[in-house]
Amino acid sequence: MFALTRGVPASFADALCAAPSVVPISVALARQQHAAYRAALAELGVVVTEVAVADELPDSCFVEDTAVVAAGVALVTRPGAVSRQPETAAIFDALAGQLEVARMEAPATLDGGDCMRVGSTIYVGRSARTNAAGIARLAEVFEPRGLRVVPIAMPEGVLHLKCVCAPLGDDRITLAAGTIPRDAFGDVHVVTIPADECYGANAVAIGATVLVADGFPRTHDVLTAAGFCVVPLATTEFRKADGALTCLSIVLPRP
Ligand code: GLY
Repeated sequence: MFALTRGVPASFADALCAAPSVVPISVALARQQHAAYRAALAELGVVVTEVAVADELPDSCFVEDTAVVAAGVALVTRPGAVSRQPETAAIFDALAGQLEVARMEAPATLDGGDCMRVGSTIYVGRSARTNAAGIARLAEVFEPRGLRVVPIAMPEGVLHLKCVCAPLGDDRITLAAGTIPRDAFGDVHVVTIPADECYGANAVAIGATVLVADGFPRTHDVLTAAGFCVVPLATTEFRKADGALTCLSIVLPRP
């Protein structure tokens, strides 16, 4: 497996956030947390590649939003926040050497954080960042390649689909209780995350190991009970910028 990441920019304290924290973001601590994340992936045998840091783009470490990769194709997105749209140029270049790459044009917008692949389905959140034209482009690229695109209505105030759920491999996902109705995901097997630990639902599964935000003990318990080895990682600085673990990488099969 291969993961594309991008380091924490000097401007990270200016990253977008719906409700800025009273305690300001520490760029230095965010960099430590990012290094620990990369190390955890590497420890699991993932080949981690870093795109050059973009100090002028405050949200650019959240690479997940810039591309959707499946079936040997990377759809480079047009992020819903205008300030984030310049992030995609370097991601396009990084992916173009390894995969067929498709683009998204205006008026379409889509954030990769709204997309969750489970088997042959891509669930996509209709959110403030992802519009109907973005979902149509997602379907245009991936449905001819055998993937089904299923839009999901987002609960009020949720930034991205994967703020409340994440793929666990095979046909399993996490889903925070009290967010999206379980039925929206059809036959998918759901590991329910307690409502008061909603942030913990954003986890990165690599085989039988799952990287989970530190500080969510009941989430760790339910994932352990579901058969996973849980690796807790500090995410305090990313959370202050409405980011979480999946946001920090684009995971794809080894080139
Ligand atoms: N700060 C992450 C985002 O709003 O896209």
